[in-house]
Amino acid sequence: MKDVDATRLDLRALRDAFGTFPTGVTVVTSLGAGGKPVGFTANSFSSVSLDPPMLLVCPGRFLSSFDVFERCARFAVNILAEGQEDVSNIFAGYKGDRFAKVEWSPDPNGLALIDGAAATFSCRTRQVMPAGDHVVLMGEVEGFSCSKQRGLGYAAGQYFSLGLERAAASAPPPGRHAVAGAIIEHDGRVLLEETPDGLRPPQIISKGGAPVRQALAQHLADAGLSVQIGKAYSIFEDREAGTRFTYFHARASAANAAGLGAYIPISGMGAQRFVTGAHASMLARFELEHATQSFNLYVGDEADGDVHAFEKGS
Ligand SMILES: Cc1cc2nc3c(=O)[nH]c(=O)nc-3n(C[C@H](O)[C@H](O)[C@H](O)COP(=O)(O)O)c2cc1C
Repeated sequence: MKDVDATRLDLRALRDAFGTFPTGVTVVTSLGAGGKPVGFTANSFSSVSLDPPMLLVCPGRFLSSFDVFERCARFAVNILAEGQEDVSNIFAGYKGDRFAKVEWSPDPNGLALIDGAAATFSCRTRQVMPAGDHVVLMGEVEGFSCSKQRGLGYAAGQYFSLGLERAAASAPPPGRHAVAGAIIEHDGRVLLEETPDGLRPPQIISKGGAPVRQALAQHLADAGLSVQIGKAYSIFEDREAGTRFTYFHARASAANAAGLGAYIPISGMGAQRFVTGAHASMLARFELEHATQSFNLYVGDEADGDVHAFEKGS
């Protein structure tokens, strides 16, 4: 193996290369001066050993709470659950009292355990190893909890939620219909179909069988569109009609509408007439989010729902 001169590595590119490794997201907490809770978001978590039970996490020297973590006798690791992106963002960026912004409870030693976490581990510090601009903080697990929640995912600077993504890609339940559509973007425009009731993205109705994403890809390919279907963008239910709508964010390699409608500029798109209010608010949100290139996944019914943030970078 060749010697590598670290000063010649492109550190931004190295960070991106490290970031391709998909991880979960944790919030690591401890107690600072006067028993004040401190905490930060970390994806450098790893389980290490079952017997004795050990785990590690890597606090950076840049953390305002670094001195606490470097010397702490105990710390806790909270594995965040799907839907806890806001907790992650608070513990990664908020500069005020982070613990006033989330629900948490103390463990027997007073360490903060975040409510609703997928799992929590209360640890006694076993080793703190210097490691460049971070330290490796190794702890022995003294207590833990595990919920039925799925852990929140993180890769390439974005959160992901396997449960939601799987639901979006799955076939509709028996007796239910699923509509799958694509918000197809090309060069600042979106492909929209004109119907007597207003505009809507190209879509298909699936009555079971093939997963909706696959059926949609087939439909667009059959129409002659060269489209890359990306993340789910909006999932909502029309409970009365028993229909689940799933719209994916997609990109076309050319402005070929293939008879499926016309490309309409994204800027000002929110003012168009759409088939339903749910479509209008979805595309108004798309227009806003397109401006910052920070796209969220909406999950809910037609009227209200949660917007799950997929943050750009960190
Ligand atoms: C998904 C994600 C993972 C992170 N992982 C780590 C990590 O493993 N170690 C670390 O020191 N900082 C990590 N950070 C950055 C810290 O959370 C952030 O710098 C910290 O909260 C800043 O706290 P401070 O304002 O108290 O210095 C991560 C941030 C995000 C969004």
